[in-house]
Amino acid sequence: MRPSSRPYPPVGSTNPATSPRSSDAQATRASSARAVVHRSAQPKPDPAAAQGLDGVVAAHTRLSSVDGEAGRLIIAGYAIEDLAGTVSWEALLHLLWFDALPSKEQLRDMRSEFAARRSIDRVTSAALHAAAVADRRPIDCLRIAIATMNGRGGDPPPASMIAQDKDAEGWNEAIGVLARIPVCVASAARWAKGSDVPETRTDLGHAGNLLWQLHGVDPSAAAIHALDSYLVTTADHGLNASTFTARVIAATGADLPSALTGAVGALSGWRHGGAPGPVLAMLAAIERPERAEEWLRARLAARERLMGFGHRVYRVRDPRADVLRAAVERLRDATPDGPAAERLRLATAVEETALRVLAEHRPERPIRTNVEFYTAVLLDGLGIPPALFTPIFAVARSAGWAAHAREAAAGRLIRPRSAYVGRQPDD
Ligand code: ACO
Repeated sequence: MRPSSRPYPPVGSTNPATSPRSSDAQATRASSARAVVHRSAQPKPDPAAAQGLDGVVAAHTRLSSVDGEAGRLIIAGYAIEDLAGTVSWEALLHLLWFDALPSKEQLRDMRSEFAARRSIDRVTSAALHAAAVADRRPIDCLRIAIATMNGRGGDPPPASMIAQDKDAEGWNEAIGVLARIPVCVASAARWAKGSDVPETRTDLGHAGNLLWQLHGVDPSAAAIHALDSYLVTTADHGLNASTFTARVIAATGADLPSALTGAVGALSGWRHGGAPGPVLAMLAAIERPERAEEWLRARLAARERLMGFGHRVYRVRDPRADVLRAAVERLRDATPDGPAAERLRLATAVEETALRVLAEHRPERPIRTNVEFYTAVLLDGLGIPPALFTPIFAVARSAGWAAHAREAAAGRLIRPRSAYVGRQPDD
């Protein structure tokens, strides 16, 4: 691994070559002059825009790079394989924010700052409790809670503020919000069951305190390490939908709770944050390794998709699946009689069979294991129920969201154009 000696970088950069500086002015001129609409030739709708912005480069970032052809994920200069299982989520946040892994002292200070900022205030607590006892989905409870959090507001920073102060203010805001996210997840889960929430612990880090508050028992070192490996593996992943949402909101000058509220909303959609639950359902339905082949072939014959396989970007392999599989193996080795051991035996048999039958089914199209497959096995092995998989994904991804929001806040307002395909006044 590289030493962590880079200086703190300037925040955010936009590419002048790809910044349409005059697009807002053009849009304003066009909308205020109806005659222009009559005279000008209407642009044909751009087919790329109709297909989910596929291939459009919408930001320059130093935070992460997803190389689908090579099956590589790089986080601020490090391969994900060198980070997951090696550093904690807090260290990864430091890497994203300051472009350097923390020294021992920096990490210790950061952990105490997080520990000191975990308690949730009365406004957040009241809203979260009301949502949890009304049986709102856990991910919706989290969205409601973050929306009530105190950020710095959406006002412009004072002109006198120098860059370093702005950074300090942003970091302070980030810790205040991110430290409370897992506490909200655990509190909503326990309140929904009618249980009390254990007090936060200052001797535990982000992952450990989450396990403690969820289960109310001392988490083992192996469990903390496994959860930390997951949180690091999924902390950032290029310009995915929720990260893009956070960037768009932050670029308006809105504060971090606003950006994160939008990001959690984006993550709550079934196309983005929700596949590990179905993976677990598939494993439960298969039950035993001997049943895998028949079950999987029947699903493919019925034109169904195998959950936990395939990816829009990764054509070779999803590197996160490999690091999570290694994390589950470590958890199994530490607790050979725990639930991870049995689940892993079934999962590896299902994976091997699924890859074989998928290759026969679609020889021309590589469909490989994705991150969701081993996420399901790992979180299940930690006793976390499927309803909490997406909120815990949000705990992890909040590091990437915050760092991207900071980058985007230093750039320009994000304001793409749309191609009008509606009726004209004289149609
Ligand atoms: N099982 C069976 N067939 C598949 C699978 C799969 N898991 N994935 C793709 N295919 C087939 C499709 O049926 C389709 O066949 P068709 O051309 O005959 O209709 C073809 O491959 C192309 O499918 P697309 O959806 O266009 O491919 P894309 O690469 O965009 O799909 C996706 C990516 C949506 C993840 C897909 O692989 C899938 O549905 N996987 C299962 C669900 C899943 O695991 N989701 C989690 C993804 S990871 C994440 O979101 C963080």
